[in-house]
Amino acid sequence: MNETLTTILEHRSIRKFKDMPIEADQLDLIIDAARSASTSSYLMAYSMIGVTDPKKKEQLAAISNQPYIKDNGHFVLFLADYHRHMVTASREEKQVIATNVQSTEYFMIATVDATIAAQNMALAAESLGLGICYIGSIKRDMDLVNQLFDLPEHVIPLFGLAIGHPDERQEIKPKLPKRAVYFENSYPSDEEQFTYLQQFDSETEAYYQSRSTNTRSDRWTQQVIQNLHNKRNDRLTPFVKEKKFNNR
Ligand SMILES: Cc1cc2nc3c(=O)[nH]c(=O)nc-3n(C[C@H](O)[C@H](O)[C@H](O)COP(=O)(O)O)c2cc1C
Repeated sequence: MNETLTTILEHRSIRKFKDMPIEADQLDLIIDAARSASTSSYLMAYSMIGVTDPKKKEQLAAISNQPYIKDNGHFVLFLADYHRHMVTASREEKQVIATNVQSTEYFMIATVDATIAAQNMALAAESLGLGICYIGSIKRDMDLVNQLFDLPEHVIPLFGLAIGHPDERQEIKPKLPKRAVYFENSYPSDEEQFTYLQQFDSETEAYYQSRSTNTRSDRWTQQVIQNLHNKRNDRLTPFVKEKKFNNR
């Protein structure tokens, strides 16, 4: 075991932060960590917006009614971004590039690039003793997020990262065991998977019943089936297409 692995294995999302900002040199370090991530074909098809304007933070928090979107040390919005590539292209190149970046392939590249950069930032922050929580709920009103930050075509918000000095210490949430997520040479049968998931249900049921806050009667399969059963956001598909992503 080393310090890096301890940081990774000790991860838990933090949703209550002390009322203090992140120091400037720490912020620089975690931005550098994000910038250092691997990137498909050296495209670096992502950007980040640090949100320091309290009014904008309020508006983001209102989208999902999650106070830790505004009450934190820093909030970073992660974007899939081909705008800079368009800016550097000549007029003739622009036409071809504008068509290509609308493919599913380039959509995947940008979202993966942004996600890898974000996870580097998250781990860097945690290694400095800060806490983090990813914020996907901004998806509830992408039009508002788009408008708040005046995002051009070929740029879409993906998720946020709330960062700050932790003011809580939750238990680590159980994760699926190795045999349920790591397979060798072939994909397991449904029966095998079912067995692992039943065992994991017992583990998560015990976790929800015994954790120190917000105890409840729940288990993983029940929770995720409910989640996948909920009606999804119908505005997201047209939004992504209007921003010239994933059209081809
Ligand atoms: C892309 C993404 C979006 C998320 N969005 C939210 C969110 O909007 N609000 C929230 O409270 N947690 C959010 N989370 C945190 C997850 O709920 C959390 O990671 C998961 O329950 C596992 O718990 P842990 O991070 O404590 O291990 C998000 C996580 C990811 C990866």
